[in-house]
Amino acid sequence: MLSIIIPTYNEKDNIEKLISEIDSILKKRKISYEILVVDDSSPDGTADVVFDIAKKNKNVRLLVKTKKEGLGAAYKYAIPKAKGEIVMEMDADFSHKPKHIPEFIDAFENEKVQVVIGSRKVAGGKRTDSLIRQIYPAIGSLLFKIVGCPVRDPTSGFRAYRKKVLDKINLTKMPDDYSFQVAMIFTAKRNNAKIVEIPIVFGARELGETKYSNRDLFGNIKVLFDVILRRF
Ligand code: GDD
Ligand code: MN
Repeated sequence: MLSIIIPTYNEKDNIEKLISEIDSILKKRKISYEILVVDDSSPDGTADVVFDIAKKNKNVRLLVKTKKEGLGAAYKYAIPKAKGEIVMEMDADFSHKPKHIPEFIDAFENEKVQVVIGSRKVAGGKRTDSLIRQIYPAIGSLLFKIVGCPVRDPTSGFRAYRKKVLDKINLTKMPDDYSFQVAMIFTAKRNNAKIVEIPIVFGARELGETKYSNRDLFGNIKVLFDVILRRF
């Protein structure tokens, strides 16, 4: 089974359509799945929308946290609850297109592959959002590369792991902010996991606002130093 974890904070306008697209794509491909929506008690009532969907679709599970603690914290909360042998991470805002999901599953047909990163930096991958939004990730990817990052798009949040790999990682040591993503790559690398990148087309958010903040930028800089100091 495939577990798809979707963290949400004020994604009421996106989540219903996203779940229904994922459902139809995976049904067509006969891929059994569960969707875990992990919501930080969004003031816009995202959890109420998901609660209603979960009543009708038994593959959908709603996890509610009381406080907004960051993207990483949401994943740290949800990952141990996932039941699938493949655990996928994706955003709720349609930047991550559901049509790519089966391509991640295909990449796992190679037994040795343990982590699959949806990459905007390999042939066939691209970002179609604004150039200004691409500056920090571009600088970040370069700096991470210098310190030995095994992938070209380490901040990508569209990715999948074998559960076995996640079970070996002490999640409590991972950051609560967006730098969770890079920290996980370096930790998987240290555990000798085979990581591959597949091309994805990353689009601008369709509705709502980004939740990325300076805290997340500083978090990524901290991970960079942690890697240099061999803490990751
Ligand atoms: N539960 C919870 N709690 N969810 C959150 C939180 C939080 O504190 N912060 C963000 N999210 C959810 C959003 O609702 C969305 O579904 C997803 O996490 C990503 O948030 P966005 O606000 O859309 O992030 P972004 O588009 O700026 O960042 C994207 O690019 C980054 C850099 O490439 C994401 O793909 C990140 O994963 C990626 O690191
Ligand atoms: Mn987004």
